[in-house]
Amino acid sequence: MTDGPQTLDPQDWEALRRQGHRMLDDMIEHMRGLRTEPVWRAPPGATRRRFDAPLPQGPQALEDVHTQFLADIAPYSSGNAHPGFMGWVQGGGTPVGMLAEMLSAGLNANVGGRDHMAIEVERQIVRWMARLYRFPEAATGLFLTGSSMANFCAVLIARTRALGAAVRERGLRADDGPLIAYTSTAAHGCIRRGMDMAGLGAQALRQAPVDARHRVDVAALERLIKADRAAGRRPFLLVGTAGTVDVGAIDDLATLADLAAAEDLHFHVDGAFGALAVLSPRLAGRLAGIERADSIAFDFHKWAQVPYDAGFLLVRDPELHRATFASEAAYLRRADSGLAGGDWWPCDLGPDLSRGFRALKTWFTLKTYGLDALGGVVDRCCDLAQALATCIEALDELELLAPVELNVVCFRYRDPDADRVNAAIVEDLHRQGRVAPSLTTLDGKTAIRAAIVNHRTERADIEALITGVIAAGRRLGDRGEPAADLAAA
Ligand SMILES: Cc1ncc(COP(=O)(O)O)c(C=O)c1O
Repeated sequence: MTDGPQTLDPQDWEALRRQGHRMLDDMIEHMRGLRTEPVWRAPPGATRRRFDAPLPQGPQALEDVHTQFLADIAPYSSGNAHPGFMGWVQGGGTPVGMLAEMLSAGLNANVGGRDHMAIEVERQIVRWMARLYRFPEAATGLFLTGSSMANFCAVLIARTRALGAAVRERGLRADDGPLIAYTSTAAHGCIRRGMDMAGLGAQALRQAPVDARHRVDVAALERLIKADRAAGRRPFLLVGTAGTVDVGAIDDLATLADLAAAEDLHFHVDGAFGALAVLSPRLAGRLAGIERADSIAFDFHKWAQVPYDAGFLLVRDPELHRATFASEAAYLRRADSGLAGGDWWPCDLGPDLSRGFRALKTWFTLKTYGLDALGGVVDRCCDLAQALATCIEALDELELLAPVELNVVCFRYRDPDADRVNAAIVEDLHRQGRVAPSLTTLDGKTAIRAAIVNHRTERADIEALITGVIAAGRRLGDRGEPAADLAAA
């Protein structure tokens, strides 16, 4: 035994309190000043090299470590909290979410199981979501890292539905017949990965084409299902998307629900960001049919602005859900009372045993802001997207590449060498640090993609995107001469 302190708690709690308050103040200032900082800046080489340091054997003062955080980490974030961030579909976080994260770190709750209130907070959110999506009261659900994991879990649940829980023990057998899933070409890549990770094979995912609005062609799906049945394969899962990652399209969920019912398929909706359009009374109708899904994946860390990470899976059939994940283990034995009490635990509903208290920051967000304000954020993002699309259509130098259903706008700068120039424009904008859109490919064309998800984004940011794209396009493009004056637009 050494003579040093035996615990990791401070010897001087008052000094820790003062330092803690400074750290909190700094973070509040960081959030308050986001707009005055670049959305992104490249970490300098010297900064990166400081993270090639030896493993620290001895202690260092907390204030010194925090000073390094302020100098070397905070200024070089990925920018999704910034109002100019429009690349990829990412939420901006909130001060309330940040404070709630601090509280949950303080409690250090492990929300895998046992009888404590953190579990009740998560169950409360499950019940709220069941009501929001008009699922039965008994529906189950849980927090996961994100929709990638939630969609993967849905594939496993659908596999149990098709083959029974025994498949977990015996694995897949040749006489199970290949299990086939269906979605559209616009589905997120994690659906394919989910099929791969479930051992069913990515090739067992059929991706039907989409129509002009990027919604799955249901007649094509029907043909694919028929052909698979005729060939002795076993259709088991239909995945609709509410808000496709590239353009924000919403499949015709009611018709997909009919098809799933007619074909006896598990109907899953990947609503990573779009499912929360249900918070907007103006947009909720576009999700009609989602209430008939067997499971829904979505992320509170996207449109609900909960800090990362807060993915969620809602499942209609509690028995099927438990049958997919619950396992016996002596060390997880349940008791009638005491700390090991409680009925079903979250570890019975997903792959994780140790789990953080993601529910707390979500509970704080929902209660503190309320659904009306969060629905207002959804509306504002969609209004900004429409305003951006209108500007693009009014400018000869720009071309809109997809209809704007929700909050995602895909467009490009017109140029004879458009693929190269648009890629260069986006890199240039990132380096300038005022706005950060991303790139995608639509119908073989490189598109600039602005996904407006952040509650801080305003009209001025949309204007900065337009002027930034045109200025960079004129500079980097092959058109030769500058086109009409921007101010005339
Ligand atoms: C439609 C869709 N599905 C799934 C995902 C993956 O979600 P996550 O990044 O939370 O795993 C995304 C991410 O943007 C998405 O847009």
